[in-house]
Amino acid sequence: MIYQVYPRSFADANGDGIGDIAGIRQRLDYLAGLGVDAIWFGPWYPSPMADAGYDVSDFRAIDPVFGTLDEVSALIAEAHDRGLRIIIDLVPNHCSDQHPWFQAALAGGPGAPERELFWFRPGRGPGGELPPTDWVGEFGGGTWTRTTNPDGTPGDWYLHLFTPQQPDFNWDHPRVRAEFEEILRFWLDRGVDGIRIDSAALLMKDPTLPEVHPDRPHPFHDLDGVHDIYRSWRRIADGYTPPRALIGEVWLPDRQRFANYLRPDELHTAFNFDFLTCAWDAAKLRDSIDGTLAEHVPIGAPATWVLSNHDVTRVVTRYGRADTTFSFASKREGIPTDLELGTIRARAAALLSLSLPGAAYVYQGEELGLWEVEDIPPELRQDPMYPRSGYVDPGRDGCRVPLPWSGDAAPFGFSPEGASSAPWLPQPATWKDRTVQAQTGDPHSMLELYRTAIRLRRELPALGDGALRWLDAPEGVLAFARDPGFACVVNLSADPVPIPAHRARLLTSRPVEGSLLPPDTAVWLATG
Ligand code: GLC
Ligand code: CA
Repeated sequence: MIYQVYPRSFADANGDGIGDIAGIRQRLDYLAGLGVDAIWFGPWYPSPMADAGYDVSDFRAIDPVFGTLDEVSALIAEAHDRGLRIIIDLVPNHCSDQHPWFQAALAGGPGAPERELFWFRPGRGPGGELPPTDWVGEFGGGTWTRTTNPDGTPGDWYLHLFTPQQPDFNWDHPRVRAEFEEILRFWLDRGVDGIRIDSAALLMKDPTLPEVHPDRPHPFHDLDGVHDIYRSWRRIADGYTPPRALIGEVWLPDRQRFANYLRPDELHTAFNFDFLTCAWDAAKLRDSIDGTLAEHVPIGAPATWVLSNHDVTRVVTRYGRADTTFSFASKREGIPTDLELGTIRARAAALLSLSLPGAAYVYQGEELGLWEVEDIPPELRQDPMYPRSGYVDPGRDGCRVPLPWSGDAAPFGFSPEGASSAPWLPQPATWKDRTVQAQTGDPHSMLELYRTAIRLRRELPALGDGALRWLDAPEGVLAFARDPGFACVVNLSADPVPIPAHRARLLTSRPVEGSLLPPDTAVWLATG
């Protein structure tokens, strides 16, 4: 099981209201006790934080708000001592506009060789007033920003698929490739076990800059040339002992195109967004699971099962709504939500995702049953998605609120006693019964459900890698067997259903009496 730590919101040791590496080090025993195999850390590099650290100004250092490189080395060593592997986030598509390369490109003016490392282009129309293309950015809005020449006149435009503070690298340039190969080695040499590759399908652009057209190849999504980059990275990762893992953030609806990233000489795994966006619906989930396994099995890559991350609506909230899918295009907040129902379903979903073949990911706070915080005051919101959408989409802050660890009031142990600043996003007062402390030892808590499920997952030979076999089940019910002697049944129908024959009940997602499995409930069975 791989646990995603969002460093800003995990634990704050120095009391400035922002999570840090010292805080993570103090909580490693919590993660080891949860049964985590590996931790994926969101970006911790120096950054002006225009996009919560996904705007990197130095790929070989640590932002002072999080700590130092020495502390990261200590963290890696302490994690390894506990048998935990470390995965870091690498952001190769873009950097911060404060990165020295981009600053040099701006200062150099039109035609400067430094500009070739990015996408600088003259504008269209009289005086170059219009952007080079009408592409729409990943956060909405345009993808080009006009520069001012060193002499003060209006200049060329530069490309940014995300915010204007995140200029895109030109991956056709050998220096960009060489630089990232060195950055990769820099971190792998420090003992990092794996790399999560941010926006992995976006790196290459069609240099003729065509407009997006439904009948033509997309100008920047999933260009074939991107695979060469990952082949070279794979050679680097394989050169280490033991070999290091490459994990792609690949959002692609086409399963075959997705699977191309997982060929034996490319990435090891990629996040399964099909499963993450899927409705709480038996037929749709089964289709997603079958499709996922079908694309992974032939190439021998492990499937991944992800319910949420730092970009999407918290599971408890999503499953408590009439529409249980996730999409960036849909309304994100202010939708009627039944948190109790969402929690019941999230518990069942945890048992589902932790018993499927492959690697399961848990985003921090999922194991505490945290919900999307929807009442963050507008002036405290930090996510650039909010202004970029013209203040329509509230953005992703609601799933990034600092974790509650202990106590009855904010900061709930996130920051130490007497901290000088409040947590960077306000925690709901009602999280007092969602803290690690409050849930520990309570057999009905989400945390204890996760602890037990993860322990069983480690103990049972049937779980982890391998195959699954669907069992006959009534409509609306997912039932599958895994060898040796394990079955999982999830009832997504509106009626109780009989629990199939078994030797013992290992775990239920909520109390079950008698021989019927209630709606929105999952059971793990020992069979045969
Ligand atoms: C990825 C990250 C997201 C970030 C974006 C730009 O999608 O998960 O948080 O905003 O890339 O780097
Ligand atoms: Ca701090």
